[in-house]
Amino acid sequence: MIRAGSIADDWANSAELRTAVQRRGGRRAALEGAIRDAIRGGGLLPLDAIPSSRALAIELGIARGTVAEAYAQLAAEGYLEARPGATTRVAAGAAGSAARIPAIEASTPGLPLSLEAGLPDVTAFPRSAWLAALRRALGSAPSSLLAPRDARGARVLREMLATHLRRTRGVVADPGRVLITCGFGHGLAILCRVFRDGGLRTIAIEDPCLHQHRALAVGAGLRVLPLPVDEGGAVVPSAAGVEVALVTPAHQFPLGMTLAPARRGALIAWARACGGTLIEDDYDGEYRYDHQPLGALQGLDPGHVVYAGTVSKTLAPGLRIGWLVLPEALVEVATAAKERAGGEASVIEQLALAELMRTGAYDRHVRRTRLRYRRRRDQLLELLAERTPWLTVRGIAAGLHVVLELPPGADEQELVARAARSGLALSGLAPFWHEPQGRPGGLIVGYAAPPEHEYAATLAAFASVLD
Ligand SMILES: Cc1ncc(COP(=O)(O)O)c(C=O)c1O
Repeated sequence: MIRAGSIADDWANSAELRTAVQRRGGRRAALEGAIRDAIRGGGLLPLDAIPSSRALAIELGIARGTVAEAYAQLAAEGYLEARPGATTRVAAGAAGSAARIPAIEASTPGLPLSLEAGLPDVTAFPRSAWLAALRRALGSAPSSLLAPRDARGARVLREMLATHLRRTRGVVADPGRVLITCGFGHGLAILCRVFRDGGLRTIAIEDPCLHQHRALAVGAGLRVLPLPVDEGGAVVPSAAGVEVALVTPAHQFPLGMTLAPARRGALIAWARACGGTLIEDDYDGEYRYDHQPLGALQGLDPGHVVYAGTVSKTLAPGLRIGWLVLPEALVEVATAAKERAGGEASVIEQLALAELMRTGAYDRHVRRTRLRYRRRRDQLLELLAERTPWLTVRGIAAGLHVVLELPPGADEQELVARAARSGLALSGLAPFWHEPQGRPGGLIVGYAAPPEHEYAATLAAFASVLD
């Protein structure tokens, strides 16, 4: 039986909903949470009519777009049913689907709050824009695209990326040299196979670096040589027999410095002299706050640099889409290595990403999140200046995290453990060094990770850990 719309309207008018939304911060996520809870708790029943986004926006005093986005999200999760021209209703199997389709946890399972390194705010994922892009892409794609033949990835995405990367990062790119991957890790594994099959034995990787990347290289059969990092970023490899180096020029991971201009030239000169290759991991190059972003290193010499990017910071790590822009000489071997290694991002998601880029929605999302992260960074820096002015903060100009240098004698592990005891996930520097013994301690503060409405509470928890 369908209940009259007025019952759901009563619920929308209820002080309970208003209080629930306000208590949770009055934003989209709050509204989503309140509606989800109402469906789970029986306040809204299957097939109940939901007020129009306009009516509910007026009732709650929030923007109509916010309500529409919340409805789109809940429809995507299976809680609501929205059909063009018809009243939006609670989905027929919503009580059951609530149990089957759990809401995505915003923070680390186990710990309620997170300032973990490397994570974007996944609650900012542009769900409505993505769904619209997906719908349009799938509505217009010829069926032949659904059985792809080109292992480099969907042509339309490679074209979009070539234009996008040229414009935003100064990458010298054409679609023929773009290889779509399932994220940077996948791309690195492919490249390591290519170099190993080409007879190379060693890869230089920055010290410190993301530890998973070391493990990937070792797994592909290469010996890993630590590449020291100083104030100017990665130094030039000096060991004999090293012809490949993995670097993070825009924002060294995790220490945060930008590769100095002289060092950029020196690394390129090194690669030319030994006929080697630099792998440029541009994992968060979209997020630069205080200066004009430096163009990609690859722009200086596309024949000796593999440029690598990912949507893991701009959209979500769960999407598993990344790209390599290859020197001409590596296109064939890398494509063949990808085919042998297996792994392909869903072509439907590739088409949706291309559509998101074509319409400008991707750029708009990056701009929005850049403003959000910059504001969060400023709040974090204010807090640190007030509470711990004696600590050095590094890597503030770009990216999604800063590094707090700990004074000698401070116990990094104890601070991470103390944070965990107060429910806050935090990363120390130790796992990122090739050999942590004797290295300075530090905390990597990933200010992008929390959902927007939890940022203040997360900072407060962090402040009490520092105290
Ligand atoms: C240094 C660095 N490179 C690349 C990535 C992205 O990796 P992927 O695209 O495999 O998610 C990350 C993500 O945490 C990172 O920290």
